Amino acid sequence: MAKREQWFDLSGKVAVVTGGASGLGYAIARALVLHGAKVLIGSRTTDKVEAAVKQLRRETETDAADSSSPVVAGVGLDVTNEASVAKAMQRAMDHFGRLDVLVNSAGVMLRKPTFELEPADFNRIYDTHVTGSLRCAQAAGHLMREQHAGCIINLASISSFVDLIEVAAYAAAKNAVLGLTRSLANEWAKHGIRTNAIAPGFIPTEINRSMIEKTDRGRRILEHTPMARFGEGKEIAGAAVFLASPAASFINGHTLVVDGGYMASGIGDSVAWWTGSGSPQVQQQQMQQ
Ligand SMILES: NC(=O)c1ccc[n+]([C@@H]2O[C@H](COP(=O)([O-])OP(=O)(O)OC[C@H]3O[C@@H](n4cnc5c(N)ncnc54)[C@H](OP(=O)(O)O)[C@@H]3O)[C@@H](O)[C@H]2O)c1
Repeated sequence: MAKREQWFDLSGKVAVVTGGASGLGYAIARALVLHGAKVLIGSRTTDKVEAAVKQLRRETETDAADSSSPVVAGVGLDVTNEASVAKAMQRAMDHFGRLDVLVNSAGVMLRKPTFELEPADFNRIYDTHVTGSLRCAQAAGHLMREQHAGCIINLASISSFVDLIEVAAYAAAKNAVLGLTRSLANEWAKHGIRTNAIAPGFIPTEINRSMIEKTDRGRRILEHTPMARFGEGKEIAGAAVFLASPAASFINGHTLVVDGGYMASGIGDSVAWWTGSGSPQVQQQQMQQ
């Protein structure tokens, strides 16, 4: 029988996932573990992180509760605080002895008409998404440079490319995430570090559920999405596994859009058919209005 290529095997790799206790970060952490990596997840709410670590261990069946060498660990982490970031990266080194993959998934959202947007609001969003990703990338990058190997994955967004109305601070930050991604890709490749981004479409999570589920905004998004549904966390996690894996060894500075075709759609063709039988998700959205 032909030997199988281990293209997506992450055995021996260690990852830090910021914002890894919920939503896309959690789905990504889970997928990385299922592909062989050891993972440290972190966010500000330590109870949530602890619960997520337990759930990850259960779902991936990797660690016995009393295991002396766990595959999943958690840490309290605030990406807006440099000392907290340094502590988290050190925790990864203490637990696992190396650091190969950083996923910057910590994020916050603010919807506000732009006339009412305070500079302080704007700066807070920027500090989490952009400066936070930079802080984590620098702290992880120093360790990766020592190993001459590493991979950074930033979470961009559809709003890195098009306006999503009344989320100007978020959109500006997500545009900047692309600039940061390209800068790191260009500067750090010589240190063996690849940097890429994933731009997810619309995945209902804590950050956006109230904005897009059973709302007029959500209906309009679905009308514009050729696949006529929202995505799932595991569909973003697949892209992260790919970018972290040997299969993506020549991919650097790229932004992988994972959106069910939203960005490809000029005129939402689904508008024509959801008025008839339509997709279940679009119908449900319509019925609830
Ligand atoms: N869901 C989508 O449709 C979508 C689409 C495009 C892009 N994204 C991006 O994907 C990333 C993950 O979002 P999500 O959908 O998974 O939302 P989520 O479930 O709300 O996850 C975001 C996580 O970030 C953590 N966080 C917020 N501020 C932090 C800070 N200062 N330091 C450390 N952790 C922090 C939050 O936990 P704590 O409150 O405990 O800190 C939370 O667990 C974000 O960057 C988001 O912008 C999401």
